[in-house]
Amino acid sequence: MLRQGHTVSGEILSRELGVSRVSIWKHIKDLKERGYDIVASPKGYDLGSSPDALFPWEFPDREEKIHYFPNVDSTMDIAREMAVKGCPGFTVIIAGQQEKGRGRLKRIWHSQQGGLYFTVVLRPDIPLILSHRVSFLASVTLAETLRGLFKIDAKVKWPNDILVNEKKISGMLSEMEAETDRVKYINLGLGINVNNDPKVFEPSSTSIAEINGRPVMRKEILEEFLNQFEAGMNTDHLNNAVNNWKKYTVTLNRHVKIVTNNKTSEGMARDIDENGALILELSDGSMQKIIYGDCFHV
Ligand code: BTN
Repeated sequence: MLRQGHTVSGEILSRELGVSRVSIWKHIKDLKERGYDIVASPKGYDLGSSPDALFPWEFPDREEKIHYFPNVDSTMDIAREMAVKGCPGFTVIIAGQQEKGRGRLKRIWHSQQGGLYFTVVLRPDIPLILSHRVSFLASVTLAETLRGLFKIDAKVKWPNDILVNEKKISGMLSEMEAETDRVKYINLGLGINVNNDPKVFEPSSTSIAEINGRPVMRKEILEEFLNQFEAGMNTDHLNNAVNNWKKYTVTLNRHVKIVTNNKTSEGMARDIDENGALILELSDGSMQKIIYGDCFHV
């Protein structure tokens, strides 16, 4: 009601919401403590600026499916619990910061205030073999979202990192459960360096604020990404995801080193197959298909 842009009296708020004037006053106080600039006058309340908050009510079209936690161990843990209990597709778990943020291959994802950390629970009706296309679609969608919002040259690095000027701005982790050959849920966790400074932990990383020269609104990024991603989660887009990913990649035709838990392979990254595996040309000219690993451009 305050967002309508004019003064709203305490009396109207109390009547419309069916709560006492004292309760309205307490809620206004609570919102002010959360950073909302609300000015009280004899005529009522006026909303000035809103903070860059990720509360469910900041996403009116999807409010019931947004769950915000100021501080958690990892949004992946909460997402898994909710997915197992049967939450609907496109339930989103957001954290202000994470104590035990997880990266790929058992790495830590440092998650200080100012970054955007969330996991989306997806329930695509697809066979297991196609599940990788979902993360490729998400990478393309995020790269396009950042390009569109901030006019930055966001690129994708195999498998699902986003880089700007060769520096990492975002990473993705996916966890899933399948039954026989059908996907039950896929939890996609994204960590995006927005207004945080990731360089203290990862010298080869950057943030949107650094590139942009000023802080930006995380909720705009999340809203745009979710809208585009939800609209794109259909068969046509999934079938084109890997080809679209190739449009933005910095990995192909580069000399790369791929490190897994127990093996390192080196060669020229020649292609990505239809399910996202990297085709590596080794020094003897043979081709090797890599399904997972950490990719270093050398
Ligand atoms: C990587 O690049 O290694 C993947 C990083 C994924 C980080 C995100 S932050 C939100 C979600 N919760 C986690 O614990 N990890 C993912």
